Amino acid sequence: MILQIIAVAGGLGLIIAALGLVVMRGLRRRSIGVMLAVVAVVTVTATLAGVVAITMEMIIDGRPKNIVLTVVTIGGLVGLGVALINARRVVMASRRLVEALDQVSPSGRFQPPDGPLPAELETISRALEQAYERLRLGREREQALESARRELVAWVSHDLRTPLAGMRAMAEALEDGVADDPDTVKRYHTQIRVEVDRLSSMVDDLFELSRIHAGTLRLSRNKVGLGDLVADALAGVEPLARAKRVRLSGEADAVLPVNADAGELSRAVRNLVVNAIRHTPADGTVSVRAVARGNVATVSVLDCCGGIPEDDLPRVFDVAFRGEAARTPGPDGGAGLGLAIARGIVEAHEGEIGVMNEGPGCRFEIRLPLSA
Ligand SMILES: Nc1ncnc2c1ncn2[C@@H]1O[C@H](COP(=O)(O)OP(=O)(O)OP(=O)(O)O)[C@@H](O)[C@H]1O
Ligand SMILES: [Mg+2]
Repeated sequence: MILQIIAVAGGLGLIIAALGLVVMRGLRRRSIGVMLAVVAVVTVTATLAGVVAITMEMIIDGRPKNIVLTVVTIGGLVGLGVALINARRVVMASRRLVEALDQVSPSGRFQPPDGPLPAELETISRALEQAYERLRLGREREQALESARRELVAWVSHDLRTPLAGMRAMAEALEDGVADDPDTVKRYHTQIRVEVDRLSSMVDDLFELSRIHAGTLRLSRNKVGLGDLVADALAGVEPLARAKRVRLSGEADAVLPVNADAGELSRAVRNLVVNAIRHTPADGTVSVRAVARGNVATVSVLDCCGGIPEDDLPRVFDVAFRGEAARTPGPDGGAGLGLAIARGIVEAHEGEIGVMNEGPGCRFEIRLPLSA
């Protein structure tokens, strides 16, 4: 008897399930709602068909047979209704999500739809929100870089043109014999050499910066002692400090091993120290310290520049940013590349660089992970 029931219900169920699968195949690009409805219809029909067949078989008398049929039909209809309501909810929720996507603002901000969404759609909505946010930040960064690049080209071409014009005038004066007294000739030659040095270091900086931005800065990293590196950088800028009558004081913990490209890292440190010397008045002091704090090595450069305006502080590391005083090209005027290069190099070493006003001036600080 039980075997017979299983055979009849199972057989009919399988036939209806197969039909349902064929229908679903045809509908596989349709909405989740339609599919849910088909599932509900298949379930209800299968149950109903099984029950009908079996009650027929069982030759139950009129009353129980009708009761069973009625109960099952009502149950089935209720199930179908619930499935349809659910399907509609899913459809409406996905429509709300699509509308929210349609309303993404030109600035690229995605506002998730109001009200609750089914779990999967909620996940998608959150992922979309994050993706749009990343895109937006990326676009903002790109725009900032692009405008910095444009500004840089404008400034650099100005900075190149001004000394070139001077050099051309001096070269012509020498060539035509207009400048012929030995003192002037000597002065012109010296000035031309100084300008050539300045221009080539600027071109060199531009190359370095473009390598950093293109991500093609190749570091050959070894275990180096940060203390020694700082001492070398200080020795290199000693003549500049002497010429400006700025006192240099250096202090370093004994062993500060970091995994670094010594050449690049000392370039970063030198850029900080050169800035500090440039902005410190005669008889002022620039002190450089290299110390370990926990598992971080810190190089700090403290000067007597009188403080950087608060508004400028967050911008000093931007490409081509120059403070008011540094904008006029002169023997001291830079191109505004030094700190951008220092930051690029430090970040390529998984380090951080920062600045704050402190005491009589400001403190630039490089933090690098100590090597084990
Ligand atoms: N130690 C400092 N004290 C005061 N201001 C500073 C100091 N270092 C940097 N600045 C400010 O930050 C700006 C950017 O510095 P950065 O080193 O990038 O460019 P620069 O020194 O002007 O030119 P470059 O380094 O390319 O020769 C400077 O023009 C200056 O206004
Ligand atoms: Mg500089």
